[in-house]
Amino acid sequence: LITPVILSGGSGTRLWPLSRSKRPKQLLALTGTETMLQMTAGRCVDGGRFGKPIIVTNAAHAEDIGAQLTASGFTPAAIITEPAGRNTAPAIALAAIEANSDAALLVMPSDHVISDVPAFHAAIERALPLVAEGWLVTFGITPDAPDTGFGYIQRGEEIVAGVQRVAAFVEKPDRARAEQYLAQGNYSWNGGIFLFRADTYLTALEQYAPTMAKAAHAAMAGATRDGAIVAPERETFLQSPSESIDYAIMERADQVAVVPVEMGWSDLGSWDALHDIAERDVDGNVIHGDVVAIDTSHCLIRGEGVVVTTVGVKDLIVVATRDAVMILPRGSSQEVKRVVEQLKTRA
Ligand code: GDD
Ligand code: MG
Repeated sequence: LITPVILSGGSGTRLWPLSRSKRPKQLLALTGTETMLQMTAGRCVDGGRFGKPIIVTNAAHAEDIGAQLTASGFTPAAIITEPAGRNTAPAIALAAIEANSDAALLVMPSDHVISDVPAFHAAIERALPLVAEGWLVTFGITPDAPDTGFGYIQRGEEIVAGVQRVAAFVEKPDRARAEQYLAQGNYSWNGGIFLFRADTYLTALEQYAPTMAKAAHAAMAGATRDGAIVAPERETFLQSPSESIDYAIMERADQVAVVPVEMGWSDLGSWDALHDIAERDVDGNVIHGDVVAIDTSHCLIRGEGVVVTTVGVKDLIVVATRDAVMILPRGSSQEVKRVVEQLKTRA
């Protein structure tokens, strides 16, 4: 059985004003009626293949996460609560310590879209023999732009059918290098989804990030438990360095493999990404909530608890909540970060 490990730590600031620190992206229903978290859990329910998931989350969101999982009929094996985020490498370590040491862990972000789940499962199947041999496996997405927000994987020789050795892993290269990688053609984006045995990961952590390994083990040894909620010991966990699995492990380890897969993957990191992936009406609009759109085309319009009306506009992103309204042209939704930064300076 594969143990799904769902990481829920990010805040998704680029989806402001809908996404807030109290209610981050993964806890929102962005594409339909289910939240990103519920959709992530729903991808791994085939009982013959997957066990109960382990969720690792900021303590502040544990209650909402438990409620959302229950509402969708999922029973977590554990909800591990971090007193504060230390990025993904320590978060995954907590899950690896909680799981059986020989369990295969399928580590997934809680905020991605995968539209072709059978293709995802087939890719997992291809990777399993290597996982048993102690490989760290990642899933490779075919890049369609020199995006600098992703890790890039240079694919090497084939190890078994459909699985290649990672020749080089470069986390978030600059623009020039990303363009070069795209032109070369033998690069995939890192999908941020990983598959490895718990003990393989912990051994690699010992080797490449010993301080982190020590903090995670100590924190779990001192953890308090209340039903499914596992609270690692605060002070020892906070001593862990803050680093992502990509920098701490994937860039450094030797036995790293990639499974290239076409599965309708999207990071859904911005309003533009959401407009691109969501179902559009005949006018090319993506509309959520109480919206009256007249002579309006190719817009994303979202009203949460308020009525939003537009007349005679096109190519806009309009997101309104009870306490904030944001309007910007389509194509510039990365700029939302600037709004959030500016607002922080006023607080
Ligand atoms: N529990 C927990 N604790 N989860 C965390 C933490 C933490 O401290 N930090 C991040 N996460 C979760 C996020 O919620 C998200 O689901 C996932 O881990 C990945 O973190 P991101 O912050 O979204 O990473 P990224 O998007 O910058 O980069 C990663 O994902 C890309 C694909 O989307 C990297 O793996 C890249 O290489 C990859 O291309
Ligand atoms: Mg991300």
